Amino acid sequence: MPNESPRATVLLVDRDPAIARDIMAYLSERGYEVEWVDDGEKAYNHLDGHQVDVLITDLNSQRIDGMRLMAVAKDRNPEICVVLITEEPDVELATEAMRQGAVDFQTKPLNLGKLEAVIEQALGRQKLVLEQHELKRRLDERYGLDNLVGQSRQMMKVYEAVRQIAPTRGSALIRGETGTGKDLIAQAIHNNSPRRDAPFVKLNCANLPEALVESELFGHVSGAFTGAVQKRTGRFEVADKGTLFLDEIGELSLPLQAKLLRVLEQQQFERLGDNRTITVDVRLIAATNRPLEKMMETGQFRDDLYYRLRVVSIEVPPLRDRREDIPLLANHFLKEARETHGKAVEGISRKALDVLMRYDWPGNVRELKNIIEGMVIMSRAGSALDLHDVPAYLRHTTTPEVSEIRIPTGVTMKDVERIVIEETMKLTGHNKEACARTLGIGLRTLYRKLKEYDLR
Ligand SMILES: Nc1ncnc2c1ncn2[C@@H]1O[C@H](COP(=O)(O)OP(=O)(O)OP(=O)(O)O)[C@@H](O)[C@H]1O
Ligand SMILES: [Mg+2]
Repeated sequence: MPNESPRATVLLVDRDPAIARDIMAYLSERGYEVEWVDDGEKAYNHLDGHQVDVLITDLNSQRIDGMRLMAVAKDRNPEICVVLITEEPDVELATEAMRQGAVDFQTKPLNLGKLEAVIEQALGRQKLVLEQHELKRRLDERYGLDNLVGQSRQMMKVYEAVRQIAPTRGSALIRGETGTGKDLIAQAIHNNSPRRDAPFVKLNCANLPEALVESELFGHVSGAFTGAVQKRTGRFEVADKGTLFLDEIGELSLPLQAKLLRVLEQQQFERLGDNRTITVDVRLIAATNRPLEKMMETGQFRDDLYYRLRVVSIEVPPLRDRREDIPLLANHFLKEARETHGKAVEGISRKALDVLMRYDWPGNVRELKNIIEGMVIMSRAGSALDLHDVPAYLRHTTTPEVSEIRIPTGVTMKDVERIVIEETMKLTGHNKEACARTLGIGLRTLYRKLKEYDLR
């Protein structure tokens, strides 16, 4: 079947040309693409630049022995199927080879039928594992971490930071522009911490008069100040054993910053109008979109509090710096809006997505969510969201033309592939993972093709 794509690519390593010829002839005839090299070092170099599904190697190939080669090959492709061949039967070596993940160990002269059977079986398993990886990747893509959607490198870093700091009890500072997901991240830290079954309590420090913020945080006894008719339990007490999330911490007045610092250091405070000291066990997470460093210079933010909070900080990147998350988020919000509003919307067209991917999103994910919801509400039922559903101001603030790839006639399929890969790399800001995802190919395949076409 010379015109079909190969069943699998095989790298054969053996010093003996006669044996190699036999194996190559046998496997090629059965649809495998076989590459032969006569020593381990050449094999090593070949593995570096090529996708290899099956490695058949003589244990005693020169310079790099078969066992070493197997380790290197597994490093490049953990699913690779390795068959070791040897001159003499050697039970001990065979056991060791199988332990290290070889699928078979055969002694010369080879039984070619058996060799093929072993390979075929291993490839079946390999395919299953790869499908599971793909499935898992798709699931991860949907869920990200907790309710966070996004697979960009920047968001992966955020998830990693969340996982790292969640188990500790130290306070954390989340920074990022409005609408980037700071609330969701704070919640994710709590949900992944040992405190998950205790309360997650939130207070927004903005838009509240100072006295009210203070009583909200620490509580008051009745008659503590004018209007304090009933006693009030503060958020610090409510959040005992759990997490307190202080949003917009940059808005906190200087005296309250001092009080907050004390709670952080001693886990102690007094209710307003009461001098009994209360001890709590609260983990603090703070968020802000204000430049705390500048506020420190002008004396609006205490530097001791800043340094205390900054120990663990998470920077959430604006959406325009992780555009490859836009299609995932858009589809996520589309599904949400579809359910909320009971509208049958099929999806989003490529052209509409292109516009969304080019817009700068000053309101970040929140703005995207609102736009998609609006588009769903206004859309005609039963069709997909298209270019004309995208609000006009988005279309006008972006490059008017939707990105297109121009392919001259008279070129080969290989040229077409090269052009498509090159342009998609540009569109995704040279992010290989995003590029592979957009093209619907595996990352390894992309690497191979980039090398093949000499594209960085
Ligand atoms: N990565 C994400 N995945 C899914 N939804 C997200 C993501 N990031 C943000 N959102 C959604 O976008 C909206 C804004 O997020 P959030 O309130 O967490 O932002 P914020 O950074 O706290 O904004 P602000 O600074 O204005 O308080 C919410 O509806 C949230 O659910
Ligand atoms: Mg917020």
